[in-house]
Amino acid sequence: MIPNEAMIRRLAEGKDSFYLYDENTITLRMERLRSLFPGVEFLYSMKCNSNRHVSECIFRNGFGADAASSGEVLMAHSMGVGKEDIMYSVPGKSVHDIEETIDKSIIIADSIGEMELIEALAEKEGRVIGIGVRVNPDFSFNGGAPTPSKFGVDEPDLVRILEDGTFPHLSVVGIHVHLKSQELDAGILSRYHENVLALVRRIQSVNPVEMGFVNMGSGIGIDYRESDEPMDLDVLSERLRDSVSTFRQSFPGMRIIIETGRFITGKAGVYVTKVADRKVSRGKTFVILNNTLNGFVRPSLARMVAHYSPEESPGMMEPLFTAVDAFQFIPLRDAGEMEVVDLVGNLCTASDVIAEGMSMPVLGRGDIVVITNAGAYASVLSPKQFSSQRGIGEFFLRADRETVLE
Ligand SMILES: Cc1ncc(COP(=O)(O)O)c(C=O)c1O
Repeated sequence: MIPNEAMIRRLAEGKDSFYLYDENTITLRMERLRSLFPGVEFLYSMKCNSNRHVSECIFRNGFGADAASSGEVLMAHSMGVGKEDIMYSVPGKSVHDIEETIDKSIIIADSIGEMELIEALAEKEGRVIGIGVRVNPDFSFNGGAPTPSKFGVDEPDLVRILEDGTFPHLSVVGIHVHLKSQELDAGILSRYHENVLALVRRIQSVNPVEMGFVNMGSGIGIDYRESDEPMDLDVLSERLRDSVSTFRQSFPGMRIIIETGRFITGKAGVYVTKVADRKVSRGKTFVILNNTLNGFVRPSLARMVAHYSPEESPGMMEPLFTAVDAFQFIPLRDAGEMEVVDLVGNLCTASDVIAEGMSMPVLGRGDIVVITNAGAYASVLSPKQFSSQRGIGEFFLRADRETVLE
């Protein structure tokens, strides 16, 4: 039995494929983080799911915005999020991006080149602009040696810039670090948090300006696979509380910020599709579903990665790929007679396969299949325009469990 089954059936009467997001799940997971991490502020990583109702619900409930484009800054601003609670962090910002967002967000400069662009703007306008800087620190996520990265300014370069006073019209009011998403080991993530807090001390010691925030990025993962152990948030909370209480003795007023996307929404969404056809070809049974690769790309990508990589979890593929079996396919049909099938989509490409050799109840045209873990990096990543397919809906189920917004 999956939650919201009755609503899924009702909505499926009018649509062959759609996402359904659940407000209750979102707000419960927000509340969980808030209660476990008092004194920490949270920003919602809009890139994972920028659906209007989802974003509005999260901002209404008090999280700020981690914006990864000027469009996301403007969207959060239009939803009433204040400048201090929108952090705009992404590599490759243009002058236009900067001008458009400078008074609506805290811009996190991602390179020395971006610092030069903001310096030029500040000088032209005769003002000093407060910015954050994303740092590529002198440590890796696991605490080992640092690596080259397209993200951020290398720590030694930032130290030199601050010591030399290279940018007289910029004040570095905070730093941002994000090295990895989808971690499930609380010990590893809490050591990373300690390393980031130590980095603040190093940067502050050469910074003429008193910094107002440290944004520690994301990292909290979710249990995608049935075999995954969810992150032990109690352990993470306890360890962070300890390191923050020491940190606060030196930096009593500093805002400590964590970004989070998938933890809030990943499990709050399902993707619903219906059987379009079935066939047996040379002894193999194919169940053809509506809008799989084009509607929710990650299950097909998972199969593709599995074909090409001998490793179970090849690195650096988030958020496109997490694990081969990161999604469950749940038919809304009682398990009667079973058969072994391949689940494929209705596109003109052989790569549109989401499951192979899977045991399923015998499905026929119009039967519903629900795919789990579809609330983050799902709709936003999917090539919905591919082959001009249409009709992939997105619905938001309000907390009353009756009202559905489209
Ligand atoms: C800088 C940054 N912050 C936050 C996130 C959100 O990560 P998650 O959705 O895993 O919480 C990402 C994801 O790629 C990111 O790159």
